Amino acid sequence: MARQEAITAQYDRVAPWYRTLSPLFLINPLMRRKTVAAMSLRAGDAVLEVGVGSGRNLSYLLDAMGASGSVTGVDLSAGMLAEARKLVDRRGAANVHLIEANAATVEYNRDFDAVLFSLSYSAMPADVRPAAVDRAWDRLRPGGRLVILDGGIARTRLRPIIAPIARQLVKLGPGDPDVNPLDDLAHLGEVVSEPVLLDVYFVYTVVKPPPSA
Ligand SMILES: C[S@@+](CC[C@H](N)C(=O)[O-])C[C@H]1O[C@@H](n2cnc3c(N)ncnc32)[C@H](O)[C@@H]1O
Repeated sequence: MARQEAITAQYDRVAPWYRTLSPLFLINPLMRRKTVAAMSLRAGDAVLEVGVGSGRNLSYLLDAMGASGSVTGVDLSAGMLAEARKLVDRRGAANVHLIEANAATVEYNRDFDAVLFSLSYSAMPADVRPAAVDRAWDRLRPGGRLVILDGGIARTRLRPIIAPIARQLVKLGPGDPDVNPLDDLAHLGEVVSEPVLLDVYFVYTVVKPPPSA
């Protein structure tokens, strides 16, 4: 697994072509819609997207929670954020806040109704992932959902066929093909996982329980 600096440099380089290259990784709008639906957003919600990248989920998020809601997007790649900024400006959305920071160390100055890691969890180094999840989880309101869209090679029923192909694809990027959010999030509560594309990508959802009395 690449180091954080190498990962960020790679995303900086690829940023202008991220959208064009996405279909190569089977990333598609339907998958994004299903992921945002799993967040059960309501009008006015405050959403955090960790590893927001070039902002490919922003339209779906803004459509789901409306002008009275807000999106905070955190990413370490200035190049990816520059692409996200263009998208926000085109849409004229004043309720999107983009922050250039490491998700493992960022200080959030507000609470959120829902948290999304979309294809970003596996893009973070293994030692960064737990801290990135903890920071977001601390700021998630009780009853809110933490949703991860990511690969599931470790779990797919099509493993003998899918795994070698997926590994080759993932090698083109900096991601960890063996990431397993189902196990990683288990200490937070019950994790529900739904395949969103042929057992290649899964949406993992965990709901934050109310504080214990
Ligand atoms: C595959 S892209 C996903 C972008 C977007 N969420 C999407 O669904 O298209 C992964 C993103 O995670 C970001 N990332 C990796 N490590 C990070 C970290 N430690 N903190 C914040 N962002 C990080 C990368 O810069 C990159 O933009």
